[in-house]
Amino acid sequence: LQEQVLQEVREADSLDALERVRVSALGKKGRITGLMKQLGGLDPEERKAAGQRLNAAKQAVQEAIDARKGELAERELRERLARERVDVSLPPRPDPVGHIHPISRTIEEMIAIFGEMGFRAAEGPHIEDDFHNFSALNIPPEHPARQEHDTFYVRATDAQGERKVLRTHTSPVQVRAMQAEGPPLRIIVPGRTFRSDDDATHSPMFHQMEGLVVDRATTMSHLKGTLVAFCKAFFGVEELPARFRPSYFPFTEPSAEMDIGCSKRDGQLRIGGGEDWLEVLGCGMVHPRVLENCGVDSGEYQGFAFGLGIERMAMLKYGIPDLRPFFDSDLRWLRHYGFAP
Ligand code: PHE
Repeated sequence: LQEQVLQEVREADSLDALERVRVSALGKKGRITGLMKQLGGLDPEERKAAGQRLNAAKQAVQEAIDARKGELAERELRERLARERVDVSLPPRPDPVGHIHPISRTIEEMIAIFGEMGFRAAEGPHIEDDFHNFSALNIPPEHPARQEHDTFYVRATDAQGERKVLRTHTSPVQVRAMQAEGPPLRIIVPGRTFRSDDDATHSPMFHQMEGLVVDRATTMSHLKGTLVAFCKAFFGVEELPARFRPSYFPFTEPSAEMDIGCSKRDGQLRIGGGEDWLEVLGCGMVHPRVLENCGVDSGEYQGFAFGLGIERMAMLKYGIPDLRPFFDSDLRWLRHYGFAP
């Protein structure tokens, strides 16, 4: 029997088969266990001798099983390692990479261009008080310009009991810069602005870039020269069809709006082409009353200011017809305009 079981152990070809052999020999109803149970029926002399032989057999079988188990386990491990080997030469799957938002990119480009002209970027709060957003800018409470701003009011009130507003333009930062630093000043202010407007060319949240220069002997021709030079650099063109139209803002005098010549082809906006004028910014000489409101001596200093719509400039530069997709995070749109791979 011992030889037969040892033979079966040698022939067991898997851990499962080996386990079956073990149970059939040493298990509760196994062949060797069965013989052990019969020992009780023998007389003492025979029992002792048979018991010894059975114990030896049992031990031999157990040792053979353990050894075989080691072999089989090692073989299975080797096979699994071979089967599951990683091919390190496979090229990796490309990871999706995040990208700078087109508006952030446009702002960075603008800061770089104005930076070369000696402008420094400044910032201000999105939630403003009436003074900075309106009255210091020569827009008193009854002024009709307030209606045009479609202002969002915030529930909270300030110390004077006035309700705060979401700034309707970046111009309040003109006031903050003049108050905090005084002249000479040469700043740009990129940032978010808010008006309750919503259609293909207006979004309730949009971006503006304010510009402010305050110095002695600052003139309208500095204003025009700066803006034309900026637009040529921004759009990457030598020739820029541009015009300054007289306009009105309470905080500048005289005031103007700058238009850029453009045309629409296949639904895409393009610079030049002589079809249309697109208004890109408002500008003018800082109103003396605004200088005085901000503690600047208007007898000694003059300034010019401008405010441009960042989305508009980006739409014109990249030929984008609709403003709202800027804030939809639609990968297909981002890829279409080259803002994502
Ligand atoms: N703040 C004006 C607007 O939002 C733009 C502007 C800025 C005009 C500075 C003149 C000077 O429309």
